[in-house]
Amino acid sequence: MNMRTNEFTARATQAGLEWWRSAVIYQIYPRSFADADGDGIGDLPGITSKLPYLARLGTDAIWLSPFYRSPQADAGYDVADYRVVDPLFGTLDDFDRMLHKAHEYGMKVIVDLVPNHTSDEHTWFQAALNSPPGSAARARYLFRDGRGAHGELPPNNWQSVFGGNAWSRAPGDSQWYLHLFDRRQPDLNWDDPEVRAEFEDVLRFWLDRGVDGFRVDVAHGLIKAAGLPDWSGQTAMVEGTDAAGDEAHAASANPGPMWDQEGVHEIYRSWRRVLDAYPGERMMVAEAWIAPPSRLVRYIRRDEMQQAFNFDYLLAHWDAAEFRQVIDVSLAASASVGAPTTWVMSNHDSVRHTTRYGLSKPGARPKGIDAAGEQPDEAAGLRRARAAALLTLALPGSAYIYQGEELGLPEHTTLAAKYRQDPAFFRTEGAEIGRDGCRVPLPWKADAPAFGFGPSAKSWLPQPDAFARYAVDRQEGVDGSTLELYRLLLQLRREYGLGAGEVKWQPSGSPDVLVFDNGRVRAVINLGMQAAALPAGHMMVSSEPLDVKGQLPANTAAWLSLP
Ligand code: GLC
Ligand code: MG
Repeated sequence: MNMRTNEFTARATQAGLEWWRSAVIYQIYPRSFADADGDGIGDLPGITSKLPYLARLGTDAIWLSPFYRSPQADAGYDVADYRVVDPLFGTLDDFDRMLHKAHEYGMKVIVDLVPNHTSDEHTWFQAALNSPPGSAARARYLFRDGRGAHGELPPNNWQSVFGGNAWSRAPGDSQWYLHLFDRRQPDLNWDDPEVRAEFEDVLRFWLDRGVDGFRVDVAHGLIKAAGLPDWSGQTAMVEGTDAAGDEAHAASANPGPMWDQEGVHEIYRSWRRVLDAYPGERMMVAEAWIAPPSRLVRYIRRDEMQQAFNFDYLLAHWDAAEFRQVIDVSLAASASVGAPTTWVMSNHDSVRHTTRYGLSKPGARPKGIDAAGEQPDEAAGLRRARAAALLTLALPGSAYIYQGEELGLPEHTTLAAKYRQDPAFFRTEGAEIGRDGCRVPLPWKADAPAFGFGPSAKSWLPQPDAFARYAVDRQEGVDGSTLELYRLLLQLRREYGLGAGEVKWQPSGSPDVLVFDNGRVRAVINLGMQAAALPAGHMMVSSEPLDVKGQLPANTAAWLSLP
């Protein structure tokens, strides 16, 4: 056991809380984190080599997006074998080594579980295609006869989240199969007991190896309404789009017959029983794009999952009232079920928040940005993102950091179409730019080929020149850099027990300024365009230098300590 492990154990015990209630969890997108073998795609040995970096950053846990065998039709969210590491990313031994090392550093490890659909290359789907309608092999998926005189029309009118029809037919096949995502991601039939048994076994496979938890992909989608009724609404993961391409997270009472059906909860209750049979505090976090929060927290009732991503926080615009409202509503909703809240600003499906906060409507969420789209004000976006880090990390509960966020990394907003790989780009014929811009390999060294992503000059997506400014080696040890800011914030968050604390709002004197106390720390954030008066307290850290005494500049945040 090294020093850090001791420290970590001491802290967790002291707080007397399960680790996931207050953990800072770092999302690794394996193909873009660090490349050890030089093929231009990040891999598990690359992750292992950077664990000291993450330990130094001060994160409690890492979550890895999928690294399983996959044809990569949706960057690994199309799994062909749930128990095998794709050779792109390494081997199962590489995984075990990474897991062991992470644990030595006192970090927990969460893996991604993709239960809504498999890859079309999964042996089950291949068997289904080779079996007749009505067979047990077909019953694991959602095969249906078509409508129309000769079954030439899809069984219902559902659209894919990635655009286009949600039904496809294999060449020569008489039946259609449902895919809420790409046609290479057939949806499983969760009414089939074999499907249920298989996933419980997959959970055990990874729990036996020692993982600390699972991030559950599309957790709100597994069960579809009986009879698969037509649906005139959009089959979107995030509802509603205004003229600016901004996603308004419409709190629609009816999300559609494919989302948030009552039957999903029984699945998570059974998984919870699987997890609870293991020693240690194993956990699950739901990816469920549903509203309102009172619906979301049903996934984190005491006998279901432990956490759900707080996408309302991610979707909040740069507006004090909106942030305050989201914070209050989320805290109350999660408290109602005894679960912790989570705080998320970015992930591999959204334009990076540094960039979103630099748009003319700061915080808007376009579905990707290309050279023809509005380009962000990079400096303004970074400044707001740094302030937002002080807001997010002062809040009680569990916080997620998306790789590169600690560098203030922007979106690649001018990636040429020829490099794009996101199926959403192709299925919408470019109407959605897609998610590649937030998935660009990380810059580790400003002057190295591919910015030190790996030992070669290869990088599966080209990196923009601007990444040089954000490279780890440009920020390490540099006072005031975003990386050093994050390190300091995580250290203070731990020292002052902010993750296990409480929000107590204080008067701020301005509609653009939020002030709250969490234990002995007073957080203040100015989301406005004017400087504001700094509240009382001893300055601990600010997101920008404070030049005028007693004043907090525009788009700046600070932590003050209270006696
Ligand atoms: C989730 C993932 C996303 C993926 C989709 C289909 O939303 O985060 O990346 O494309 O599910 O698996
Ligand atoms: Mg590699």
